[in-house]
Amino acid sequence: MKKFIIATGIVAVALAGVALADGPTYVGAQKCKMCHKVQYNSWMETHHAKATEIAKKGAEGRPYDASCLKCHATNADENLPGVQCEACHGPGSAYKKMSVMRDLEKAKANGLKDVTQATCDGCHTGDDHSHKVVFAEKVNDKAALHEFKNEELAKKMMGQ
Ligand code: HEC
Ligand code: HEC
Ligand code: HEC
Ligand code: HEC
Repeated sequence: MKKFIIATGIVAVALAGVALADGPTYVGAQKCKMCHKVQYNSWMETHHAKATEIAKKGAEGRPYDASCLKCHATNADENLPGVQCEACHGPGSAYKKMSVMRDLEKAKANGLKDVTQATCDGCHTGDDHSHKVVFAEKVNDKAALHEFKNEELAKKMMGQ
């Protein structure tokens, strides 16, 4: 009996791996806006919302090209301009439904990610151009992050 349980465990892990391989896709910030207007409107005021626009102007000694989009757009896709919601929260096609979103565990199982220092490090790599940021210091920085409806959550993040 024990052996059987272990075997099903392995199958479940293998299946999860398959689901991940062609997993959730990006839906764009307009979809999130429908239910998260507060976050959307304040996100629009952040540097992140304008990241593609800024890159297109080019930086000193670095003319714009597609390689900039890796950090200056969502999922390196010009059609998803700016560092949008899903660049931090994970691609939303599977979690954006109300029935899933209402249940945090379900949302996480469907691609909603915790935002951590590692999220920022993906783009704020610490080289000459993309300076390192300390996540815990930026939680209340309006140039970086949207406003939080849930103050408790913001506090928890800062203590992380
Ligand atoms: C149909 C409405 C709806 C859509 C569309 C939607 N959400 Fe949500 N979302 C909710 C509800 C409801 C909650 C749970 C209660 C709350 O925080 O308001 C939630 C919670 C969240 C949370 C908080 C989870 C936590 O830690 O408690 C995040 C982050 C989030 N949504 C991100 C997104 C992103 C990104 C998108 C777009 C890809 C999106 N949502 C689309 C309704 C929606
Ligand atoms: C590895 C990720 C990454 C890549 C690739 C990248 N950037 Fe950036 N860029 C950043 C980050 C992060 C910032 C935020 C500014 C900071 O760290 O001080 C930034 C800031 C900027 C700024 C505003 C500040 C400034 O330096 O004037 C411009 C303009 C810019 N980038 C242009 C570009 C262009 C053009 C390219 C492509 C040739 C590019 N970036 C490629 C991450 C990147
Ligand atoms: C997909 C790439 C990406 C991710 C993920 C990302 N950023 Fe950024 N961030 C950028 C780019 C590009 C800019 C520059 C945009 C501009 O100047 O218009 C920027 C700008 C900023 C700025 C304003 C410029 C500065 O250096 O003061 C802050 C602060 C910031 N990001 C913090 C964060 C934090 C905190 C996280 C993690 C929670 C994060 N970022 C995640 C790409 C990213
Ligand atoms: C640069 C990263 C970043 C981007 C971009 C971003 N968020 Fe967030 N978001 C966070 C962080 C950090 C938190 C707080 C901790 C957490 O929930 O993981 C948060 C929390 C949330 C929450 C739940 C908590 C609350 O009280 O508000 C929602 C809902 C949310 N974000 C929606 C969005 C939507 C919608 C967008 C796009 C319009 C967006 N986020 C863009 C980093 C980001």
